[in-house]
Amino acid sequence: MANKHTTRIGLSPRDLHTPAGQQILLQSAEILLAGGTVAFATETVYGLGANALNASAVEKIFAAKQRPAWDPLIVHISSAEMLERVAANISLKARRLMEAFWPGPLTLLLSKQAEVPLLVTAGRPLVAVRMPAHPVAQALIAAAGMPVAAPSANRFGHASPTTAQHVLDDLDGRIDLVVDSGAAWCGVESTVIEVGSECVVLYRPGAVTATEIEAIAGPVTVHQAPADAGKQIIYEPESLPSPGVGIRHYAPRARVMLVDVECVPEPVAREIWLQSVRDWGLQGKAGVMLPTGWPIPQEFIGFQYAWGNWNDNSCLAQHLYAGLRALDAMGADVILSPLPAKEGLGTAIRDRLLKAARKV
Ligand code: TXA
Ligand code: MG
Repeated sequence: MANKHTTRIGLSPRDLHTPAGQQILLQSAEILLAGGTVAFATETVYGLGANALNASAVEKIFAAKQRPAWDPLIVHISSAEMLERVAANISLKARRLMEAFWPGPLTLLLSKQAEVPLLVTAGRPLVAVRMPAHPVAQALIAAAGMPVAAPSANRFGHASPTTAQHVLDDLDGRIDLVVDSGAAWCGVESTVIEVGSECVVLYRPGAVTATEIEAIAGPVTVHQAPADAGKQIIYEPESLPSPGVGIRHYAPRARVMLVDVECVPEPVAREIWLQSVRDWGLQGKAGVMLPTGWPIPQEFIGFQYAWGNWNDNSCLAQHLYAGLRALDAMGADVILSPLPAKEGLGTAIRDRLLKAARKV
């Protein structure tokens, strides 16, 4: 593994074009080209990058994250040339979606070029590709001149990192460098889709919504993982079309309990919430993801995370993982959270919380 401690260097988007900024980019690109690992901010969450065309570099990502080999990686690109280098037979519909949403939080599954190592796609014929919008991510990929494979920079299954400190909390000493560009803007990972001739299949909801995709590319089918169908089914993730969709994921150490207040006005939601916190009989080691102004019982003696305005999904998304991580760090054994409605970014927040609450 890498050094005892991972090096952390600050690079804000506004310093990218200064001599110091250029120097940091050069240093990061050198590490990537030498087969090392660099964590960096994207607009969604922090990613752990390695040269996507170098199998032994990509192997280091799996080792650092303790990620099983069956879970494939997203390849990040910064130009049209890089797209052609990693993907083949791109349909017109897929290209229209790229034009509409790239750079940005949309990942497309495309036919892979032979040059992409099988390790990246977990032996699958399709490769996941995305062009991030964060200026530091773009500049870093461009400086390396190589597509960069980058999953979220957390230990496998854990809540994604939205700050450089979160990355270090999970991976210090296991990776070569983290470039600290402040908090990621969006807070939940990209939307993952496969563009078929009939319809678009949505595997992971994210900041680009099904409605927005539908407006460009026609009907969208939301893929249901087996256990989402209501029962806990034991199955092999290898057999899923997108293996990350059906497992416990995005999770803190504490057990996550959810209060579904979908489809009720906020005052009613607050009442249901208050009653639920009481009913769970939460004691000393409980934590709550608490929207601004929401009540907790007077007798509550657990931990609280001030989540933000319940009517502002961008704010809730931005602080979701920070909140789960903070409550873990405070020592919560159980985290109770209200579940936002399936609207806009709310769909992605729901998806992550439901996966974090799963037992397997
Ligand atoms: O916003 C994001 O997408 C972040 C930032 C860093 O870009 N990345 C990210 O990567 O969330 P990761 O590895 O944590 O999640 C990627 C998801 C996983 O659920 C994986 O199973 C799925 O995409 N995936 C990746 N490549 C795939 C492929 N070739 N076929 C099917 N699913 C794939
Ligand atoms: Mg991840």
